[in-house]
Amino acid sequence: MVAARSDAVNTYEYDQQTVKVDLRESWHIRDVEISTRLVLAPMAGVSVQAFRRQGRRFGAGLVCSEMVSCAGIEHRNEKTLGYLRVASDEHPLAIQIFGSEPRTMADAARMVEAAGADLVDINFGCPVRKVTKTGAGATLLDEPARAAAIVEAVANAVDVPVSVKMRRGLRDGARTCLEVGPQLIDAGAATLTLHPRSAQQMYTGTADHSLTAELVSLVDVPVIASGDVTSRAKAQAVLATTGASAVMVGRGAQGNPWALREIVDGTGGEPTREEVVAELVLFIRETVRELGERRASGFLKKFYGWYLGRGRFPRPFKQELVVLDSTEDVERRLIAAAPGALPLIEELEAELPSGDEVQLNLPISIYGGG
Ligand SMILES: Cc1cc2nc3c(=O)[nH]c(=O)nc-3n(C[C@H](O)[C@H](O)[C@H](O)COP(=O)(O)O)c2cc1C
Repeated sequence: MVAARSDAVNTYEYDQQTVKVDLRESWHIRDVEISTRLVLAPMAGVSVQAFRRQGRRFGAGLVCSEMVSCAGIEHRNEKTLGYLRVASDEHPLAIQIFGSEPRTMADAARMVEAAGADLVDINFGCPVRKVTKTGAGATLLDEPARAAAIVEAVANAVDVPVSVKMRRGLRDGARTCLEVGPQLIDAGAATLTLHPRSAQQMYTGTADHSLTAELVSLVDVPVIASGDVTSRAKAQAVLATTGASAVMVGRGAQGNPWALREIVDGTGGEPTREEVVAELVLFIRETVRELGERRASGFLKKFYGWYLGRGRFPRPFKQELVVLDSTEDVERRLIAAAPGALPLIEELEAELPSGDEVQLNLPISIYGGG
């Protein structure tokens, strides 16, 4: 064993002397090649196209969409952020769907595949009541027969591999994922992602990756470990102690793509102010292009704190930005604070593909979690 797990505090002590897992090594989910062992997490209200693209640029081998609602196939009255757009520079891309009916999930999966998804991901992890009360998300872990029927229907509907993202179970201490996981593989899932917290826990406590290790030992498909990976040391420890094929990073990448580079390459460190402003301005511009000014201006406010915090800019600067009326004003103010960002922004803009987007006509759900 290369690392020892301390049960008392549920942390990992990584033995520096032993072989480290190479995060730059490619791996496969069936015939989909994934260039690094780092996956960018699906996060509702966060994983817009700008986030996914940025994740790819900073080293994520696979990126995931926000969850899209298959209920949108039958009735389109859900309050949403709009529709998902997929561009050529995002691949490989997993598009996540959620729902509770095998037939509508299969229909959604076909649409997702047609929009260009390299993987169809099924959400069995969302703990948010608005989702669980419809019989979708984490509640399906307590209904293994229905969960397996959904996976089977989806796997039969598409040619691309099907993945499932789940929590450990509904209640604290649950080990449901270990019973349900192998059944989902038998039903046709090509990979499993485990966020080993219970739905009841939401985001409190810690992710117990000893469960990830148990799951890895029970199935013969790649497993992705999600939860509390924020540094290279933690990523290597989780990979080494669990045998997972990849780590997934969510909150650690919010306003901080540099963490992804640090995790994959061990390089990077803190960005300069110019780099922070350049990434944020590009993020703003792309999000406005995707969501439109009205929706984007509210949506983006949380990102200002994420980018400008961590001691990068004084706190009042963020307060100043969130009260500005338009994203153009925000951009102007950011560039005034770091004029050297302009050439960087031009370089980043020049790298974007032009006009090759496909729109998926299923609504993005605002109720995230998993
Ligand atoms: C704001 C937010 C939204 C999320 N939305 C989703 C989602 O739509 N689908 C999903 O499977 N997981 C979702 N998650 C869970 C993450 O994908 C991930 O499993 C979890 O945050 C643990 O990883 P982390 O510690 O790296 O953040 C969300 C998490 C956050 C913080």
